[in-house]
Amino acid sequence: MTAVTDGESLDVRDYYRKRYASSTPAQQEWTIATAAPELVNLVNTGRIPRGSRVLEVGCGVGSESVYLASAGFELSAIDISADAVERAKALAECYGLGDRIEWAVGDVLSLPFDTEGYDVVVDRGCFHCLRAAERPTFAAEIGRVLRPKGLYVVRCLSSQRIGAPAPQPTSMFVKTFGVSSQELWETFSPYFACEQLELGSHAPDDESVPCGWLGLWRRLEQNRPA
Ligand SMILES: C[S@@+](CC[C@H](N)C(=O)[O-])C[C@H]1O[C@@H](n2cnc3c(N)ncnc32)[C@H](O)[C@@H]1O
Repeated sequence: MTAVTDGESLDVRDYYRKRYASSTPAQQEWTIATAAPELVNLVNTGRIPRGSRVLEVGCGVGSESVYLASAGFELSAIDISADAVERAKALAECYGLGDRIEWAVGDVLSLPFDTEGYDVVVDRGCFHCLRAAERPTFAAEIGRVLRPKGLYVVRCLSSQRIGAPAPQPTSMFVKTFGVSSQELWETFSPYFACEQLELGSHAPDDESVPCGWLGLWRRLEQNRPA
């Protein structure tokens, strides 16, 4: 298994393409076989309203898209890895949902989807794959495909820890991918109002386990940076 060790020279797109081409989902440390509890909660509480048209960015092998389609949502999903999307399609077929999800292989910086075509965009671990210089383009693309007042749900790695206000990169992994609340704000506030931003951890007492953000960003009526 290839480890993420050199954050400066890492080509993240290439890294994921190679990993998906050469490993099974069980060997991919980021792949889990189900939707995350916070996404299920957003569905069950109606914060992602029934009937929403949803886009998943960086869908990987499709666990969350298939969950959302099985919950009745109309889905589109995109990933940079053709191998990941093939696996995602196969998973959807297993559940009889093959015709409910529109799959695309491509880059989230240039989404092949209609302007204002979605009510919700969900993201588990894609935004933090982008380099800092790419973030404004990403925010503009998410703002473009969402309808006014549409919701962007981001889950990403944090460079901050609970109770520590300043970024504290503890490992090369966090240094490479971790995002601070200020960076999230700078990236998304030109297009979105922040509805919720939570820092969480599966193991708050273990400093070696990175924390993650759950962010809910509501697209502004006027889709233009102030
Ligand atoms: C941490 S993984 C998460 C995958 C999936 N969301 C999950 O939870 O299993 C990040 C995903 O983003 C994809 N990705 C990274 N950069 C991308 C880009 N620029 N365009 C499209 N997909 C990208 C990767 O291929 C990978 O599937």
